[in-house]
Amino acid sequence: MYKVEDLRFKYPKNKDDVIKGISFEIKEGEIFGFLGPSGAGKSTTQKILIKILEDYRGKISYSGKDVSEFGNDFYEDIGVSFEMPIHFSKMTAMENINFFLKLYKRNADVETLMKRVGLWESKDKMVGEFSKGMKIRLNIVRALLNEPKMLFLDEPTNGIDPANAKILKDLVKEFRDAGGTVFITSHIMSDIDQLCDRVAFIVDGEIKEIDSPRNLKIRYGKRELRVEYKENGKTITREFPMDNIGKNEEFLTLLQTKDIETIHSGETTLEDIFIKVTGVGLRDESE
Ligand SMILES: Nc1ncnc2c1ncn2[C@@H]1O[C@H](COP(=O)(O)OP(=O)(O)OP(=O)(O)O)[C@@H](O)[C@H]1O
Ligand SMILES: [Mg+2]
Repeated sequence: MYKVEDLRFKYPKNKDDVIKGISFEIKEGEIFGFLGPSGAGKSTTQKILIKILEDYRGKISYSGKDVSEFGNDFYEDIGVSFEMPIHFSKMTAMENINFFLKLYKRNADVETLMKRVGLWESKDKMVGEFSKGMKIRLNIVRALLNEPKMLFLDEPTNGIDPANAKILKDLVKEFRDAGGTVFITSHIMSDIDQLCDRVAFIVDGEIKEIDSPRNLKIRYGKRELRVEYKENGKTITREFPMDNIGKNEEFLTLLQTKDIETIHSGETTLEDIFIKVTGVGLRDESE
């Protein structure tokens, strides 16, 4: 769907590039996660991909055609949810939606979408009176108004409660299952783990890793099995190498003779991988 080659970008006011030669592909029908510490360049990359920032170097093609060759018809194809949702606060939710609907040739079924995100009841309420979570949900509805082929979501679940986050995640998955492609950034690793087919880690404008969450967890994890069993009322933990585990006499004897409590393989979590790859902890959400 997207092919990005050696992308570089500098903000006019800055001296140095903030995007320093990144290359990646977004395959049609996948949810592609873009992860990295605050200031790494995730939102900047999203803005370049959607043609809001144009003075980049490198090559970006969408559906096999250079993005610079697309005119406004490009926006018929994509849906975007920005990091900071901007709505007309003195208009109702429905007035906001109707304003944006008119910009597109293709229109989604608004009632279904609004019901889906739990905003139908509030459709005639002034958006200025919306809570943060309501504004974020309205933002997703806006992103889907033109029935896009490709969806860009910049931290869509930031600042909403778990139940609403689940609604959004289910929406994103359904969108993908119906053939849509998604580019998503998030700091919430469990969301990324549940949603993404592949993820890229970006650190200080450079991509450090690209793979599926599963492969990353295997690659960064230990090839090890940890067994906890009970003996004389105490829990004992033993670790065994995964290689040739089926022939490991000690392991097999343990399975046959002990009162096993848990068995785990040593895959790591996306959180741990994030810290390993980026060299920094997760962003303090209070900032
Ligand atoms: N309009 C701008 N002018 C100048 N520099 C900018 C501008 N917007 C962002 N930057 C800088 O570009 C770098 C990348 O910013 P970007 O917003 O892409 O990061 P991010 O990965 O999305 O971070 P976060 O996780 O905090 O959203 C940062 O160093 C930031 O200070
Ligand atoms: Mg950002």
